[in-house]
Amino acid sequence: MLYFKHQELVDKYHVSLKTVHNWIDAAKQGKLEIELHEQGTRTYIANTPSNATKLQQLADQGKKYRNTKHHEVVSPKPEFYSLYTRRQVLDIISSLTIHREIPRKYNYMDGGATNWDKFAERMWKEDLPNLLKSTIDLLHANLGAFDLLLEGYERVNIIDIGVGNGLPAKELLEHLLGRKILHRYIAIDISSSMLHIAKRNINEWFGDKVKFEGYVRDITYERLDDLLVDDMLDNSGDRTLNLVLFLGATLTNFRSMADSLNAICGSMGDGDLLVYTDKPDTEASRRYFEFSRTDDPNKLAPNHRFILDLMNIDEGLYDAETGFDQKRRMRYVRIRLKKSLTIKFRFEEAERGVSLEKGSAILLLRVWHMNALEIISKFEDAGFKLLQSSMTKDREYILTISGVNTKADVIQ
Ligand SMILES: C[S@@+](CC[C@H](N)C(=O)[O-])C[C@H]1O[C@@H](n2cnc3c(N)ncnc32)[C@H](O)[C@@H]1O
Repeated sequence: MLYFKHQELVDKYHVSLKTVHNWIDAAKQGKLEIELHEQGTRTYIANTPSNATKLQQLADQGKKYRNTKHHEVVSPKPEFYSLYTRRQVLDIISSLTIHREIPRKYNYMDGGATNWDKFAERMWKEDLPNLLKSTIDLLHANLGAFDLLLEGYERVNIIDIGVGNGLPAKELLEHLLGRKILHRYIAIDISSSMLHIAKRNINEWFGDKVKFEGYVRDITYERLDDLLVDDMLDNSGDRTLNLVLFLGATLTNFRSMADSLNAICGSMGDGDLLVYTDKPDTEASRRYFEFSRTDDPNKLAPNHRFILDLMNIDEGLYDAETGFDQKRRMRYVRIRLKKSLTIKFRFEEAERGVSLEKGSAILLLRVWHMNALEIISKFEDAGFKLLQSSMTKDREYILTISGVNTKADVIQ
């Protein structure tokens, strides 16, 4: 007989493990009409349609009569509402309700941008290889490949998606300036604070030789072609190439990588190039957690806590968990609630509450793991065609250069 594992019920109905045990005890005592399944010495709840209906009712009832003594109610700080747009707040509410997740992208606003900048500086100074240094090394090693692929073009626009502090693009910009083919440098980021940091750096490195253009965009769904249309339709349009940088494995943090790749691919033209860097799936990469080092494994590093603090979710309310999920093949940073919690979001005209049960987990960071072939095939599914790829000597980091798949490339 099909049956539910206890944790499945916790995740499906957003109840605590204790509640599942109470349901089983009540059913054994004949107080609750649900079908049980014995497996060895253990008792489970059978996975039947009538059980599913009954359990949903029980879960809904439980939420209505929640014990307030073990229940915390919090409201986000005023800064939360000034940092995020109404649309973003609604997305945070939906992500919490539907996916039990706070999308990583919201962690880079304001002080979150400074957190990233400091972390990037630390990576830059480290002796050992890391994602930033390996991205810079791989870009350096590929300067010749770019020259070949840019042959025949008179103007190159660099579009740096998820720009961070701009450091990875520095040498490539110098190279294109030296060849006198750099036309525009367009930085895209969800965070205006991150764009400020990148702009400050670009101005410091290049003065007025590079004009920084920064745009706030959410690349999980927004396209970029509107930023390029004037260039592509002017007299030099057919001699202009857009070189899109998507560096630092930002893509692997998104719930749907395909949505973002589709938006990028749909914004690019024939001849344009996409450069991507990542840390592919290896035994070592499954243990890679340098962005969250703390002395106490149950504590969250400030960069992960940023949005929780803004929502007034105190450290005492949760335990931190980091690890690798074998089934989904992703690294994660999440918190597990020690108490049930309602987050009350206040708007001028109304209030929206998100209720989370004790024991439920909220995901703060995911990193999808893909091997080199999977990366290539993910890009091909979105309409790209691999032109070049290279790895670092230790095989821990990869760079790919892709073009847009044209009809001529597709075997009919
Ligand atoms: C992991 S950092 C990588 C920065 C840089 N590319 C590098 O390799 O050092 C991620 C960057 O992408 C930005 N970002 C994250 N999610 C984004 C989204 N959905 N749309 C646009 N930018 C995003 C962040 O603000 C941050 O600047």
